Amino acid sequence: MDKFRINGGKRLSGRVAISGAKNSALPCLAAALLTPKNVTLRNVPYVRDLITMRRLLEDLGCTVLVPELRTHEINAGTVENFEAPYDLVKTMRASVLALGPLVTRFGEAHVSLPGGCAIGQRPIELHLMALEKMGAKIELQNGIVKANASRLRGADIEFETVTVTGTENLMMAAVLAQGTTRIYNAACEPEIVDLANLLTKMGARIEGTGTPTVTITGVDALDGADHRIIPDRIETGTFLIAAAITRSGIELNNCEPGHLLAVIEKLQKVGVKIEQTGDGTLFVSGDGKLRGVDVATAVYPGFPTDMQAQYLALMTQAEGDSVVTESIFENRFLHASELQRLGARIRMSGHSAHIHGPAPLAGAQLIASDLRASASLVLAGLAAEGETWIDRVYHIDRGYERIEEKLRGVGAEIERVKG
Ligand code: EPU
Repeated sequence: MDKFRINGGKRLSGRVAISGAKNSALPCLAAALLTPKNVTLRNVPYVRDLITMRRLLEDLGCTVLVPELRTHEINAGTVENFEAPYDLVKTMRASVLALGPLVTRFGEAHVSLPGGCAIGQRPIELHLMALEKMGAKIELQNGIVKANASRLRGADIEFETVTVTGTENLMMAAVLAQGTTRIYNAACEPEIVDLANLLTKMGARIEGTGTPTVTITGVDALDGADHRIIPDRIETGTFLIAAAITRSGIELNNCEPGHLLAVIEKLQKVGVKIEQTGDGTLFVSGDGKLRGVDVATAVYPGFPTDMQAQYLALMTQAEGDSVVTESIFENRFLHASELQRLGARIRMSGHSAHIHGPAPLAGAQLIASDLRASASLVLAGLAAEGETWIDRVYHIDRGYERIEEKLRGVGAEIERVKG
């Protein structure tokens, strides 16, 4: 298993180009299952989860061409298998995004039930409830969810909890259903809007995305489309914190600041200077005094749970006390004990971490537990004096495109040690 070796305490400078959003590219690839025509996706990040999604589409019978890095041409005209098997679902829960498109276009989908994961239980009963309301027959057999339907019917569906992939699955199911579907308490994340933009280019009729009520009027068939994936707001936020935690100034290109206003506002309260210096360009500088500021994660447009671990790493270097509260997932603090090994002063209490900063960090050997936790360990390693080793960096490869190369490009001393 690969590891990262970081020699911390170095200032960063220069530019980082932000990649396309993993959590937008994943549902957009799945959406290609909705049509026999070609769907071309650009700015697809070169990360492990996208390779897994591509493998899933190929297993189902799609042709996926990659004429150039980050461009995927998908054709689902030859799908002959309707199963997302356990070996793919267990490595990537987003495989569940095949469910809606398969059942609505082919009347059949078999998707292994994902188990719990490092950050929480993450059930999918809301996805299944929604499809049942649209007329799908759902059965669980040997750990596999089997969904069948002749043609799905539009329905009014209210999600009891806001769910991102649940909203995406339902939107994709509804675009080919008979009649109108109304989703209440829909997720409003930019990735939902991006998926809706792709579906609209394919001929779908969708209104209200980006708000909690989305209305979809089903059509009989969808066309191909050409679509560019939005920039990754979580990667952007992670690099903002990389500059702040190393007290450096860097420029971020190809980003969409409007998608991470809650993060930018919070970091500005902490004392990080962030300026939009051009179209899709931010300049971030963390050379001033950093103050501890509380945060609680929330659904969009609130502070994203996917930035909680990185923010916690920053709070260990800010002056004073702060409380970081996780409201979306029940177990998303595995990074806290690893940060403590570097010297961070963190006390856990229920869903909150109480941090007393600034604590001098000193390099240590760490183990990554999930994608965003790994990012927080990398950030802390950049701020720590001496050598930090991070094991199991395959977690970070799932969602960050060559993070060590991007960091090296701005002067960090970080290398991948093959294992
Ligand atoms: N939930 C249920 N039942 C369901 C579905 C969700 O109880 O049927 C609960 C979850 O257990 C959780 C909450 O609802 O407590 C929100 O979960 P959600 O369904 O929104 O999460 P997700 O769709 O599985 C996506 C992202 C995650 C991100 C969350 C929250 C993708 C592929 N994944 O997951 O991204 O943390 O939304 O914003 O879009 C990551 O990129 O590191 C990552 C984990």
